[in-house]
Amino acid sequence: MRKSLIDPFNRTIDYVRVSVTDKCNYRCGYCMPEQGVHPDGVHSEYLSYDELARIIKAFVDLGVAKIRITGGEPLVRKNLAGFVAQIKAFDGLEDIALSTNAHYLEREAEALTLAGVTRANISIDSLRPARFKNITRGGDLEKVLAGVDKALEVGMKPIKFNMVVMKGTNDDEIEAMVDYGIQKGVEVRFIETMPIGPAGVGMMEQHYPADKILARIKKHVGVDLIPSTGKSHDGPARNFIIAGTDTRIGVISAVSQHFCATCNRVRLTAKGILALCLGQADSVDLRTPLRNGITDEALQQLIVDAMLKKPEKHFFNENVHNIEFRQMVQLGG
Ligand code: 5AD
Ligand code: SF4
Repeated sequence: MRKSLIDPFNRTIDYVRVSVTDKCNYRCGYCMPEQGVHPDGVHSEYLSYDELARIIKAFVDLGVAKIRITGGEPLVRKNLAGFVAQIKAFDGLEDIALSTNAHYLEREAEALTLAGVTRANISIDSLRPARFKNITRGGDLEKVLAGVDKALEVGMKPIKFNMVVMKGTNDDEIEAMVDYGIQKGVEVRFIETMPIGPAGVGMMEQHYPADKILARIKKHVGVDLIPSTGKSHDGPARNFIIAGTDTRIGVISAVSQHFCATCNRVRLTAKGILALCLGQADSVDLRTPLRNGITDEALQQLIVDAMLKKPEKHFFNENVHNIEFRQMVQLGG
């Protein structure tokens, strides 16, 4: 029988989000400061693909079935497809997903799909080129939309669009995003700003609650939104089917609603830190033991023990200032 990782709150951890870099070619205001996070980041601090793969192998042997590759922006790291192929071979790994801003996706989608990426979440906060450029501080909407089309063409499925809704910045595009999702046959997920890192905390003035988003969508489509639960990889999203269509929409409301009770994931940063909760500082360094020659068995035990530190829930609502300890761009969303 396969092993499984269980935390003290009886949650099974079968999903690891792996950040392959904390660098990004964009600079979204809610995610990172304008100058980026590590202007002088030291190369040796980052795990090699072999090191990342070794940690992933340990997780898979402990029952993890799903990996999501994140960043920063994962496509800025060279030969990502080679890395995907490397982990694809692990027995028991069922699903390799990607989160990307899609800027380089037109170029990379085919190789990534052939290597084993099945699904992708794509961040798009605006469908207006000038506004998109502003929000991302330099992004190119045309490239992103071309990346979306390429991903659809090579058969990545499902593709989901993630829109961070910001009051006064892009909240007037909620309806347009729903229409774009329907047009492309893609699920759209609307995300509340979260107070993570100084950048995210600053954005809370623009917080726009999920229930208002849902009311807007309902009014726009003119039919009911039917709650759609089910698949385990829905994660923290609350999902709905637009009545009479196949189109799903979702809202992710970290702040106005706790989703911690069903949390199934941990995060591995590009520097080899295992982060146990998006909203809490609890973490375990895996890089140091790895580089000191830890055995496979001891590495697995370290991971099993790390689960004991997984907090019950985040405290976004209770104390925003406690969680300024790290930037979202380092955690990979
Ligand atoms: N609040 C909400 N979502 C965030 N993301 C990054 N920073 C934040 C934040 N402060 C998520 C969004 C974005 C992805 C790259 O990371 O989902 O689309
Ligand atoms: Fe880059 Fe995504 Fe952060 Fe924007 S939100 S700066 S695209 S990692």
